[in-house]
Amino acid sequence: MKLFDVYPLYDVTPVRAKDVYVYDQNGNEYLDLYGGHAVISIGHGHPRYLERLTQQMHQIGFYSNAIQNPLQHDLANAIGEQSCCHDYQLFLCSSGAEANENALKLASFHTDKARIIAFDHAFHGRTSAAVAATDNPSINAPLNQQQKVTFLPFNDEKALENELKKGDVCAVIFEAIQGVGGLDEPSETFVYAMERLCNEYSACLIADEVQAGFGRTGTFFAYQKYRIEPHIICMAKGMGNGFPVGGILVHPSIEAKYGMLGTTFGGNHLACAASLAVLDVLKEEKLQAHAKDLGEYFYQKAQNIDGVKIIKGRGLMLGLEFDFEVGPLRKELIYTHRIFTGGSSNKNLLRILPPLTVEQKHIDFFFTQLEIALKTIAA
Ligand SMILES: Cc1ncc(COP(=O)(O)O)c(C=O)c1O
Repeated sequence: MKLFDVYPLYDVTPVRAKDVYVYDQNGNEYLDLYGGHAVISIGHGHPRYLERLTQQMHQIGFYSNAIQNPLQHDLANAIGEQSCCHDYQLFLCSSGAEANENALKLASFHTDKARIIAFDHAFHGRTSAAVAATDNPSINAPLNQQQKVTFLPFNDEKALENELKKGDVCAVIFEAIQGVGGLDEPSETFVYAMERLCNEYSACLIADEVQAGFGRTGTFFAYQKYRIEPHIICMAKGMGNGFPVGGILVHPSIEAKYGMLGTTFGGNHLACAASLAVLDVLKEEKLQAHAKDLGEYFYQKAQNIDGVKIIKGRGLMLGLEFDFEVGPLRKELIYTHRIFTGGSSNKNLLRILPPLTVEQKHIDFFFTQLEIALKTIAA
């Protein structure tokens, strides 16, 4: 049987990975500055992660949400402690789109309204309402286009208020740092305006932290650069270091009802064990502070590179913007210099999303190779 061919693939076949390195079937070593799209948080194959998952597998790997699972409570407490969102409530699922889907559905139940406000260049996933709130018509099927979504630019407070005033908006969903969209951020003033206006017009403010969350940007959640309290916070990617786990944190003002949300796989024993291991390592190895420091180091180094127009992002969610499309540069980096990097819908932006265990020496290596690659593609 053939695979349903929806992904353009690089011609690399990883068979093994350790910390910040990935190895192909010929034993070639690649520096992973992409983290499988911001998923690898504590490094590939971290011993604590392997141990915890192996141990859990020997005990019980899965049971549905019809029984007591104390690991879900352990995970809720650990997320509460590290994110400082102590009063929030946790609902677990298995991916980023599913987290956003549940957040939007919950906002609609809670407010009894249906229209969503999302932002230009937003990416929230590929399912029903999540893809409808994604600013990319080419991945929205007619089915998805039935959802009521209005896209606004960041930082236009007046436009946001005009839409909220109409009284039919259930949710305003935003990324504090846009991922797939290319690392743009709303201004501080606009972040506070979103919170104030959502409260004034009874809409839910949803922070999509699927890519930025779990310490990647130097705070536990990227929105925590500001003092706001979103109604719902969506998580996935770095949460499981590769094990499929996602979730939402729900503000105490939103009440749960039986049947409101549900899933077969979400919050299973292995998923909880994976995420608990991630949180243990994040804390013990102080990876959140490390991400902040390394991000600052990256900025310093990037300033010396000819051709870099803008440096974007925070912590280890970073980008270098050039005045040309970076597709050929990414190919040169992967095939000649054996470095994985990321792209975005901004074709001129090279994205850097490494495991949070990356060190200065890896960043030094990247910049040395980048300078050579830039000369090659210019020649
Ligand atoms: C901000 C954001 N939200 C949601 C998603 C969708 O997550 P998933 O691919 O796990 O469904 C992504 C994926 O890149 C993302 O970056």
